[in-house]
Amino acid sequence: MFDKIIDRKNSSCTKYDDLEHYFGNANLDPFWVADMDFEIPPFIQEAIQKRASHNVYGYGKQNKEIFEAIKNWMKSQHSWDIDTSWISLCNGVVPAYAACVEAFSNIDDEIIVQTPVYFPLFQCIKSNNRKVLYNPLKQIDGYYTMDLEHLKSIITPKTKILTLCSPHNPVGRVWSKEELEELANICIKNNITIISDEIHADLVFKKFTPLASINDKISNCTITLNSSGKTFNIAGLNASYCITSNNELKDKLDKVIKQRVINSVNVFGLIAMQSAYENGTVWLNDLKDYISSNIDFTIEYLHKNSKIKVHRPEATYLLWLDFSEYNLAHNKIKEMLLQECKIALNDGLTFGKNGKNYFRFNSATSKIQLKNGLNKIISIFK
Ligand SMILES: Cc1ncc(COP(=O)(O)O)c(C=O)c1O
Repeated sequence: MFDKIIDRKNSSCTKYDDLEHYFGNANLDPFWVADMDFEIPPFIQEAIQKRASHNVYGYGKQNKEIFEAIKNWMKSQHSWDIDTSWISLCNGVVPAYAACVEAFSNIDDEIIVQTPVYFPLFQCIKSNNRKVLYNPLKQIDGYYTMDLEHLKSIITPKTKILTLCSPHNPVGRVWSKEELEELANICIKNNITIISDEIHADLVFKKFTPLASINDKISNCTITLNSSGKTFNIAGLNASYCITSNNELKDKLDKVIKQRVINSVNVFGLIAMQSAYENGTVWLNDLKDYISSNIDFTIEYLHKNSKIKVHRPEATYLLWLDFSEYNLAHNKIKEMLLQECKIALNDGLTFGKNGKNYFRFNSATSKIQLKNGLNKIISIFK
């Protein structure tokens, strides 16, 4: 089913219909923004169509079944026992992150990000008038780890939040329990709240540990942000949720969510999320098999036919391509990708300074489209 080629042009989607706006050329093959070219599972389509046939689209109700579905998904997928009272719904992980920035820091406070990282997170910090504190990831031969010694050296009394991306977009790491525990202990010692963006948690190829599931002390300083958007290709429905076992943190966050009026989730978003979590296990396993084989194919094809270096991601369908072997200026690589390969990738520099010479490649498409795109790259980058 994932082999089916879907014509997404003129469906009001960012990936295909915003190419002109973002890249100045509508005729590129899109391997950029993080959504998939796959049809959503039939059970979600049916749930949405059933609701759509009602013909009255007034405000939605946050039924208790949605909270139960989230709780059961956390248990079945990630062996994490949560209480439904720990959950707050929101209309997107990024809006929820922005609300956390406001709830747990003040203007001019410092917030840590570990670059290269999903850029709206640090853009949110700046637009909310906080200071970004960079703790760049370390890497050896393309395998990234957190630099905890550097982290300890940059913390000041003004450091209020650590932003964790887990699994990490764009480098594809699934942080081990030991890495997470060590990180969290530094935050606990320094009274820092952790915002753990776990939106890619379901698309993993090794054991994923939700940060807050490790122990009560860590749970007590953590807000977990998540959504069914990435996993089930329903990100455009803008439904997400926040989880924290700490009542004080939850009250503060709920207050900001209400002030910003971002708790009123679209009625189709609620229905899709509930259906995804109630019925999605088998579909998700099939999806992961397909993505995994796309990743294997991409890595083998690039290694055989080009000098592009790429490490196998432990999570997501995103590959972090390293063009440094070509000894070209970053902007030259970018220009060649756009003008000669005619392909749209995410510019590594948007994820942080250490994204120089990197471009992010989205492999979540049919095998035919994947091979076409890779052929365009290797026709120029030999
Ligand atoms: C790490 C991460 N967080 C958040 C988002 C976006 O979440 P939302 O669309 O729910 O705001 C993305 C999308 O690519 C992401 O990769």
